[in-house]
Amino acid sequence: MRTTRVFLAAALALAVPTLAAALDAPHDRSYLPGNCQECHTLHNALGASLTSQVTISDACQSCHSTHTSARLGFPWSSTDQAVAGVSGVHHRWDAAVINATVGATTPNDPEMVKRVIAGKLECSVCHNQHAANKAFAPATSMNTSFAVGTPYPKTNAGTGTATLTLQAADPLTALPKGYRVQVVSATNVAVSHDAGLSWFKPTSNTGAAWVADTAVPVGGPFSTAVDLALDDPALKIRLTAGAVAGDYWNFYVSFPMLRSPNLTGSMCLTCHQDRAQGHAYVEVNDTGAKVFSHPVGEMLNTNARNYDLAAPLDADGGVQGTNGDANTTNDLVLGPGGVVGCTSCHAPHNADSNSLTVDPR
Ligand code: HEC
Ligand code: HEC
Ligand code: HEC
Ligand code: HEC
Ligand code: HEC
Repeated sequence: MRTTRVFLAAALALAVPTLAAALDAPHDRSYLPGNCQECHTLHNALGASLTSQVTISDACQSCHSTHTSARLGFPWSSTDQAVAGVSGVHHRWDAAVINATVGATTPNDPEMVKRVIAGKLECSVCHNQHAANKAFAPATSMNTSFAVGTPYPKTNAGTGTATLTLQAADPLTALPKGYRVQVVSATNVAVSHDAGLSWFKPTSNTGAAWVADTAVPVGGPFSTAVDLALDDPALKIRLTAGAVAGDYWNFYVSFPMLRSPNLTGSMCLTCHQDRAQGHAYVEVNDTGAKVFSHPVGEMLNTNARNYDLAAPLDADGGVQGTNGDANTTNDLVLGPGGVVGCTSCHAPHNADSNSLTVDPR
């Protein structure tokens, strides 16, 4: 045990330069103090991997059970974990990973299994708190802390009255990043991804090209009536008049920091392995001891029996999407290629099992 800790202390110390660059928003300096010590303790650490609490889930909950945000339904309480058929709105994060009742087994993904500690689920079994690998998450799970199309007042205190609107954020190309957009003068703006340690500036008021700025930013041009593409062109912002030099807005774009690919709910199957069933399996005329579940991994009407609709309805039976209700959290979303997966019907967090309510997501 001691050798492991000493080794990890060295690894942690050595990893700082590379990992510091790799910590993704919102866990980086753009949105938090950004210290590794937010979660790690180099000596006398209570938890595995030199983490600050006895379990990893507790380390996560040290922030996530106190941080407030209506957008993602924070604070999250450990008593809101699900007991199937009884209560709860979150997938469990502290239960034994092997559970015969729900058919759960040790995950068959090697990165996930490394984070099973003392045989238990942890947030880090499903999440990589250091990195938001966008390839692991469907585009629909992009999170922007500023809702697209909504004007926001500045983050800092003071008299400026300008608002910033995120005009567009393309989930297919946007990268996980934190932003500080700071007005430097009536005509100039600069952007930082590390809360003001280093700066970038646009060279045109459309944001056509961005270059490094000085430590005390001079900024580049913006116009109040023109969309400014940021240094990630997937994002466009617009500022109104009324800013005072020094006014800034902090926001981030991220993907849910998953440990394993989950485009079609495939991460669920790493543990719920016996539910990897297609229609052919479910339809076998078997009177034996098999336990059947809803088919996954296939498109609608794969069995060519023509009883499936061309597209799913909402979970409340209404038309889904832009022609239906405004509630996107009751949409039954198919994965890439129109495939039905666990996450078509389930959500791991803030799922109250009531299709009439709008869930934070
Ligand atoms: C949001 C909390 C959090 C922050 C911030 C954080 N870590 Fe971690 N780190 C963890 C947790 C939890 C684990 C154990 C689970 C795992 O392996 O990912 C871990 C594991 C590690 C490991 C060993 C496991 C591995 O192979 O990935 C290293 C090395 C590490 N962290 C370095 C760092 C460094 C360096 C920083 C700062 C740049 C940092 N961490 C910031 C939570 C965090
Ligand atoms: C130091 C405080 C802190 C700790 C510790 C922490 N987080 Fe977070 N985390 C945050 C904040 C703040 C946000 C942004 C919440 C918001 O937008 O309201 C966040 C967001 C997230 C997100 C959402 C990213 C997205 O797509 O928007 C995930 C996933 C996440 N945390 C997982 C974890 C896990 C797993 C751990 C434990 C290993 C952990 N966090 C520990 C502060 C923390
Ligand atoms: C069984 C796996 C699993 C466990 C355990 C788990 N999560 Fe998640 N979490 C997910 C998945 C999958 C998503 C992505 C949902 C999506 O695609 O929108 C997610 C999304 C999130 C988000 C983003 C919110 C959202 O709805 O997009 C946050 C924040 C988060 N998790 C934090 C945590 C924290 C903190 C813990 C532990 C206290 C935890 N998770 C435990 C699977 C898990
Ligand atoms: C790391 C393994 C693991 C992964 C990944 C996982 N589960 Fe689970 N799941 C479990 C275990 C273990 C339980 C039983 C928890 C308990 O003791 O109540 C469970 C329980 C459940 C339940 C019953 C209600 C509850 O939360 O107790 C549902 C529904 C569920 N999982 C769905 C999912 C979905 C959907 C995904 C993918 C987003 C997923 N699971 C990913 C291990 C996992
Ligand atoms: C077509 C929608 C749908 C799909 C797809 C789906 N589920 Fe479910 N699941 C439900 C519903 C509805 C319930 C609650 C009613 C019930 O128990 O059957 C449920 C219940 C559960 C439960 C708890 C009760 C039990 O019977 O074990 C678990 C665990 C679960 N699902 C896991 C999964 C996993 C893992 C996947 C992906 C392989 C998945 N589900 C795919 C709709 C779905």
